[in-house]
This record gives sequence, structure tokens and C-alpha cells, in this order.
Amino acid sequence: MATFTAQAHPNIAFIKYWGNRDNSLRLPVNGSISMNLDGLFTRTTVTFHSAGQDSLTINERAVTGKGLERVSSILDLVREMANIQECAEVSSTNNFPAGAGIASSAAAFAALALASSRAAGLSLSETQLSRLARRGSGSASRSIPGGFVEWRMGSGDGDSLAVSIAPPEHWQLTDCIAVVNAAHKKTGSTEGHAIAGTSPLQAARVADTSRRLEICRTAILNKDFEAFANIIEHDSDMMHSVMMTSTPPLMYWQAATVGIFHAVREWRAGGIPAAYTVDAGANVHVLCPSGQVEAVRKRLSELPGVSEVLVAGVGGPARLI
Ligand code: DP6
Repeated sequence: MATFTAQAHPNIAFIKYWGNRDNSLRLPVNGSISMNLDGLFTRTTVTFHSAGQDSLTINERAVTGKGLERVSSILDLVREMANIQECAEVSSTNNFPAGAGIASSAAAFAALALASSRAAGLSLSETQLSRLARRGSGSASRSIPGGFVEWRMGSGDGDSLAVSIAPPEHWQLTDCIAVVNAAHKKTGSTEGHAIAGTSPLQAARVADTSRRLEICRTAILNKDFEAFANIIEHDSDMMHSVMMTSTPPLMYWQAATVGIFHAVREWRAGGIPAAYTVDAGANVHVLCPSGQVEAVRKRLSELPGVSEVLVAGVGGPARLI
């Protein structure tokens, strides 16, 4: 059988996905919006062969146990669709530094969905690929289409999928990722989604989602940085409020994380367009118009607790290479 290699970018969420209404199908309680991160990618090669069992390597290291099971569950869906029984050899590499705290599951499952479906002889549409990637990691549904992307929560498995709302060239926006050294091991997002509903704030956050989605979508379409900045900070703060008030509580922020929030708001008040958002970790993603990158990157690298600043523009869709 043929071998296929696919490449996908990670993404940064502007309106966050937090909590599922169905954990096994990864049907979210709210829609979300993100941008793909150009220059950062996962490349995954898949070959189906008859003998043995599924195997997985990530950055040349063999992976077994839970990590392999999660990949095999996507391969099972592909085998079912293609009506084949063969096992697969999967090898995956990331070009972004391990331990930089950039979620790799979005890029990984988007690349896996594309490479494995093609290797099995299927030719899936973008929406079918987005649904398939979603089953591996919710945010991976958003790494299938290019540019600025919205994952519509949908009414069920058939229509919970992501679509591009604007191509990469629509708006020259850059993500400056301030890497903050996390002092302790974080709880993964899968465990976090499962306890989101224990926070009394989650219901209010979910009920308010269509308002935030609308403001964010419109800000992106109009390239209105001020409106964009206000809504992404607000949404990130809302998600972290839910995390902090869950049982057990999740506190991803470090002192340096909060230091960056204050600095970014000061810069913006002083006329430098920049806005922060944080996923399930301590690192801060600082968005700015691409013309401001040098100023923002320099200022971030001078803040206490920032060990490195990675820079990424708006990325394209998952593709075969
Ligand atoms: C905070 O997609 O990583 O980054 O489906 O369990 O893999 P799983 O969760 P994941 O959750 C992402 C959470 C987030 C917000 C977001 O990306 O929307």
C-alpha cells in the first residue's frame, strides 16, 4: 500500500474551546475561532501494511500505551471508512521545540487525519477531514482549513467541523509566543475538558459564546485590531476563570504570565497594538499586526521570566507533501 506524508500547523484559539457535551465524540459545548501558526508544523507519514500492529514514533522515539491508543482510535475510523484491516506504521516529527509548551495535538491529529486517510486510499473533503481530526483532538479540527478558522459546534458528529473564515493573506497578524518556564507539570486539556462543567462559571461562559464569536469574527473580517484585542483577552480570561474555579482547580498561570498581561495592556494603552491570549499552559501568545513584530518581540524578551519568544504568522491548511 502507498505511503503518504502530510503537514499541518498548530493553531492559537482566539475564542476558546473548553468543555465537551460528548467527550468520546469530542463534541464541544461551544464554537471556537483560531488562526493557524505558519512556520511551525508537524509532519506525519503513514503506511498501511498487513502484519503485526499499529506502531508510532514521534521525533524518532517509539510511543506505546495511551499515546499509541489515541492514534489507533483514529486509524480505526479510517479503516472502517476504507473497509480495510491493515495495520499502520505512523511516524511524526514536530519542528517546534519540545517543552516550549505549544500544544502539538492539533497539528498532530490534523496531519494524521490527512496522511492516514490518503494512505488508506480515501480522498476525503476538507469538512470530512476536519470531522476526523476532531475525533483525535478537538482543536485539530481547526488545523485542517487554512488561515482564520471557525469550528462550528454543530448539532452532532456530522456537522461539528471547522471552516476557514478568511485566508492567511487576509490580515498580516503575527503571534509572538512568550515562553515562560512552568514550574510544575500541567494537567492536559483532555482532563481539563472533562471537569469544565464543575465550575459554576462555565454555564455563563457557554451561554455568552455566540456574542463573543460574533465580535471576534467581525473584528477579523474588518481587521479591527482594537476590537480583536479586547475580545481575545476577555475570552482567554473567561476560560481561565472557569479553569481556576473547577474541581479540582486548574491554575495554568505563573507569575511571569500575569506580568506579561499587565505589560501588554500598558503597551496597548501607549499606542503599541498588542493583545494576549493563553491556552492550557503558562506561555502567553501575544498577537500584533506584523509591522509591530520587532518592537513586541524585543519588549517581550526583556520581561522577567520569559526564556524565549517564538514568532509565527498566519498559516495555511493541512496539506500533503
Ligand atoms: C485551551 O483540543 O487540546 O487550547 O480534544 O482533549 O485534545 P483535546 O483538547 P484540545 O483543547 C484545546 C484547549 C485550548 C483552547 C483551544 O484551543 O480552543
